[in-house]
Amino acid sequence: MQPTFETRRLVLLPRTLKDTDDCLVMDCDPEVTRFVDGPWGDGQRHREFIESRTLALYPPGMGYWTIRNRSDASGFLGWILLIPTHALEPEVEIGWRLPRKAWGSGIATEAALPVLQHATGTLSLPAVVAEIDILNVGSLRVAEKLGLIRRGEVLNHGRRSIRYTT
Ligand SMILES: CC(C)(COP(=O)(O)OP(=O)(O)OC[C@H]1O[C@@H](n2cnc3c(N)ncnc32)[C@H](O)[C@@H]1OP(=O)(O)O)[C@@H](O)C(=O)NCCC(=O)NCCS
Repeated sequence: MQPTFETRRLVLLPRTLKDTDDCLVMDCDPEVTRFVDGPWGDGQRHREFIESRTLALYPPGMGYWTIRNRSDASGFLGWILLIPTHALEPEVEIGWRLPRKAWGSGIATEAALPVLQHATGTLSLPAVVAEIDILNVGSLRVAEKLGLIRRGEVLNHGRRSIRYTT
């Protein structure tokens, strides 16, 4: 069962199919998906990709969380994920994606923190991983602020990336 989280400003809710359109619009901003590969240029495949990721059966307590303001739940502020890497492997990754209007005020870090604590605390995962393009300065900084440990450089889908773990 995927829990809900609250932080000072935010609420994180398990993602549902009602979030699909907001995710589609967010991903269609080329700045948002600049460092992430996916079917962004093909509307039908893109929708199917989001829906399949939303409906996938992840291990207990894992999945995607939609971020919303506590005071105004109508506003979509992106998502945090905690899922097996590439939705397949035993290794578990944490990730974040926000629409551009939400960047620059600490929302990604604030939202990712309870998910990370849930992963290491409640779920007792031995490790959580994030692999981030070396040019994605904002995302690298989020990983550092969360206290993730830099383990070196790797190639992730051909992208030079920094591998972080808890
Ligand atoms: C990466 C992303 C999630 C960051 O969201 P955010 O809410 O702005 O993140 P935060 O405010 O919590 O932290 C960002 C940090 O990076 C810094 N930063 C952002 N862009 C920067 C840049 N171009 N150069 C230097 N620092 C930068 C910010 O100043 C902040 O650090 P600070 O708190 O020390 O000042 C958001 O930009 C995003 O969704 N990007 C597109 C999707 C993506 O790339 N996801 C990650 C894939 S690995």
